[in-house]
Amino acid sequence: MEFQEVVRRRRMVRNYDPTRPVPEAVRDRLLANALRAPSAGFSQGWAFLVLESDADRSRFWRATADSLDDPDPWMRDMMNAPLLIMPLSHKQAYLDRYAASDKGWTDRDEARWPVPYWDIDTGFAALLILLTAVDEELGACFFGVSPERMDPFRAEFGVPGEYTPIGCVSVGYRAPDRRSPSLRRGHRPVSEVVHHGSW
Ligand SMILES: Cc1cc2nc3c(=O)[nH]c(=O)nc-3n(C[C@H](O)[C@H](O)[C@H](O)COP(=O)(O)O)c2cc1C
Repeated sequence: MEFQEVVRRRRMVRNYDPTRPVPEAVRDRLLANALRAPSAGFSQGWAFLVLESDADRSRFWRATADSLDDPDPWMRDMMNAPLLIMPLSHKQAYLDRYAASDKGWTDRDEARWPVPYWDIDTGFAALLILLTAVDEELGACFFGVSPERMDPFRAEFGVPGEYTPIGCVSVGYRAPDRRSPSLRRGHRPVSEVVHHGSW
């Protein structure tokens, strides 16, 4: 697919055909492309938890959802996703990388960081997953995990405390879904957000 077409077609897809798993080779390409994301100091302080079996995906939903007894329509559709990829950021990898001699931030002081590059880089990786999904004619959605669900999630999957899930990417073959009401806001025009020369 043409790059511009990938960008134009990308949107969050929130329902999937539950009978069609994502082929292994496609899953591997999603992950391989994620690893091509840029990262500060080439730290690559990220990790990806991949959940595909019915049992593992159920464990995810049980750990992160309020209740599965009567799921809301959003959750019911999202639970059809045959593949869940959790990108996790690893701050310590950045603090350690920048303490190396070519960077020299040996105090590992977080105040040196203008913004949390560990989360940014992991977000870049997530975007590459989303774009690759479009290129594979799949649907995908990035969604958040609430702060109070982080610990149950880590406990369920044995994720070390140093790793922070920045969200979850659901992937699968598209099924009819509801458009997010947020989209009524429309894309903000270039003239409103771009400042040429000065603010
Ligand atoms: C950081 C982030 C968190 C998001 N969290 C959710 C979420 O929890 N649930 C959801 O359905 N969509 C979520 N989205 C998707 C946005 O609602 C969506 O990107 C936005 O409405 C624009 O729609 P589009 O991506 O389809 O163009 C999230 C997107 C981002 C970038």
